[in-house]
Amino acid sequence: MADSWATPRGEPGQRRAGGPAGPGADLHLDLPRGGGTGVRAALIRALRDAVRTGRLAPGTRLPSSRSLAADLGIARNTVADAYGELVAEGWLTARQGSGTRVARRVVPPEPAPPRTPPLAASRPAYDLRPGSPDVSAFPRSAWLSAARRALTAAPNDAFDYGRPAGRPELRRVLSDYLARARGVRAAPERIVICAGFVQGLALLSRVRAKAGHREVAVESYGLDIHWNVLRGAGLRTVPLPVDRQGARTAEVDRLPGTRTVLLTPAHQFPTGVPLVADRRAAVVDWASRVGGLVLEDDYDGEFRYDRQPVGALQGLDPEHVVYLGTASKSLAPALRLAWMVVPDHLMDDLLAVKGTGEWQSGALDQLTLAEFIDSGAYDRHVRGMRMRYRRRRDQLVAALAARAPEVRITGIAAGLHAVLELPPGTEWSVVRGAAWQGLALEGLARYRYREAERPDEPGPGGQPDALVFAYGAPPEHAFPGALEALCRVLP
Ligand SMILES: Cc1ncc(COP(=O)(O)O)c(C=O)c1O
Repeated sequence: MADSWATPRGEPGQRRAGGPAGPGADLHLDLPRGGGTGVRAALIRALRDAVRTGRLAPGTRLPSSRSLAADLGIARNTVADAYGELVAEGWLTARQGSGTRVARRVVPPEPAPPRTPPLAASRPAYDLRPGSPDVSAFPRSAWLSAARRALTAAPNDAFDYGRPAGRPELRRVLSDYLARARGVRAAPERIVICAGFVQGLALLSRVRAKAGHREVAVESYGLDIHWNVLRGAGLRTVPLPVDRQGARTAEVDRLPGTRTVLLTPAHQFPTGVPLVADRRAAVVDWASRVGGLVLEDDYDGEFRYDRQPVGALQGLDPEHVVYLGTASKSLAPALRLAWMVVPDHLMDDLLAVKGTGEWQSGALDQLTLAEFIDSGAYDRHVRGMRMRYRRRRDQLVAALAARAPEVRITGIAAGLHAVLELPPGTEWSVVRGAAWQGLALEGLARYRYREAERPDEPGPGGQPDALVFAYGAPPEHAFPGALEALCRVLP
């Protein structure tokens, strides 16, 4: 097949955006090589298809037979014949002076019915489920200038296949940043860039499974997508109970088959408590005693409002803790950029696994992030967002005190969500009532590891009835409305 791009020429002055297939719009036609009647028939078929599917809209002016013939490398007569045939069939019109056009009466194709109902129909007025930051605050112009600078300075090899560990520029910059901001001991050679925390977790799961591990301890409250990632690699998940001091890490000692623990130490997700000092020490001691590995999910470590955030657990024992950070909360989930700081002894295995499929994240975004951090724009952005989220949390606290005194905010002043403790037995009805009011909220039970239920403790899994309220998610202008809507559904 000759694969050719033909350009329907527009009239001088025709507006590209307004007129269908204006000047420069390309028409892709697949034609068999050679000539004769086969080509003529194929051209007729290709043009008919283009009209039928709407690629050539009614009224579009086609290229002259001479120029289309030249573009396609076929005889001019063949094109003229094909046009003549399609005019006779009513697909095209030919008028002296205005060339050959797609007939106006050709009915454009019906748009394909959407596979799911349109989002707008089911979209809640306020989506207050945790997961995303205020994406409307993405620092577009600062990111754009960083991208421009990064692209200008990028060495040629940045446009080639890269290394699975990621761009050296970003690994270098992150090494300084993580040491300074999170107390992570991170030589650039031990940093691996990945496409979000989720990809990092998937890679580490495969490394552990390949090394013969069969089990991972997880917190009894968390994200099922993460548990499913672990299971997808063939690992069994075992819950560690979570209480007001974080995960009960000492219990990992009672799991003889477990050598890996996944934790959110700085700000337990979703309960919002930090892992207390003795439990931090206990899990690091356990790991060094049994040759275990702690996977530290530091998803929102930059956002603490009442004091300096607790440093990363990794700083205590870099040989037994993998630190995982992400740009999903601090910048935007759509970037799909995250980083792992990996113990020496795991590095080769991890890169071997990464090199088989995932390979590398987009190099230009990596270079942009490196430039963004290096220029100070990242710190400025995080500082600005910290103030914004802090203000919202303060407004939430004040609103609860005034409007819903029975509801208590628990967990530390950190992150992008808060846990709102409800009167016993009311969680389900509040979540349902909120949905009726167009308010998407999650109850704490949504994040409970099912097997962790302990009937002897208050509330399911030892936690009270509560809402997980993502005050960080709405755009700034929508936050007062969201807060008002929340207060209306609270008991
Ligand atoms: C607990 C937790 N960990 C990690 C992440 C970040 O995931 P990713 O980097 O894959 O976007 C999130 C984001 O919502 C999260 O809630």
